[in-house]
Amino acid sequence: MNRIVKTVIFALGVMCVTAPLFAEGETDLVVTQPTTPISTEQGMAAWDRIYAVASHPRCANCHVDARNIPIWTDDATGMDRVHGMHINAGESRLGAEGLMCATCHMTSTRPNTIEHAPPHAGIPWQLAPVEFLWHGQSSVDICEQMRDADRNGGRDGAGLVEHILHDVSLGGFIAWGFNPGAGREPAPGTLQNHLDDMITWTAASMPCPND
Ligand code: HEC
Ligand code: HEC
Repeated sequence: MNRIVKTVIFALGVMCVTAPLFAEGETDLVVTQPTTPISTEQGMAAWDRIYAVASHPRCANCHVDARNIPIWTDDATGMDRVHGMHINAGESRLGAEGLMCATCHMTSTRPNTIEHAPPHAGIPWQLAPVEFLWHGQSSVDICEQMRDADRNGGRDGAGLVEHILHDVSLGGFIAWGFNPGAGREPAPGTLQNHLDDMITWTAASMPCPND
């Protein structure tokens, strides 16, 4: 019963936040509301797919630790190395003094077409805040961070779903991760799969592997 009530409230929350986005026609993502209660098992299966996305280089390379150094991954070998040219985002995570990330990573919604050029997105390129650390972290670590409002930018389940829709409406980093172009391997699955998984996982009250 409790779960059903939560699901209904969740569904309403999603409708409220997504309606304006769709009215503007900025995204063709479809928000499918759960009509039946979501089990913990379904939630965990969705989490495993979310973890595969979050830990993929297209996402984790910006979600890095307090050294503030973004990561490059060789697509052929899968090996990580620190960003070339001694790039350090500084505590701002926006770029070291005098050299913003966006100096090279321009802000543009145009497709990324040139291999080994600095990738770009529709919002200014920057590291994720240090609390959103994913690079090198386990499924349990990332799961506990993502459901902790103190460490995820103050978001509840509906907020995490809305974050994806908002990012996509701007041609932001999540949209880029699934369609990086320029010879880069995309994050696994599709953006629609990832949205569906986030809706399922949050509707199941965000279970984690160590619960
Ligand atoms: C260019 C760097 C960059 C890339 C690439 C990137 N992110 Fe982020 N991410 C950010 C920044 C900056 C924020 C903080 C923005 C905010 O909280 O509104 C953020 C915040 C988030 C958040 C909200 C807080 C949290 O960690 O729970 C989620 C979820 C997220 N990103 C998912 C992704 C996913 C999924 C991908 C890959 C498909 C991705 N990001 C790729 C920079 C990046
Ligand atoms: C001097 C130019 C320059 C600056 C400044 C710069 N970058 Fe880059 N960045 C590049 C280039 C070039 C690449 C692509 C390298 C390649 O593919 O071989 C790149 C690639 C990346 C990647 C790898 C993307 C992926 O997943 O394939 C990340 C992450 C990244 N940069 C983050 C940042 C962040 C964060 C900043 C600011 C702190 C920054 N960069 C500043 C030039 C720059």
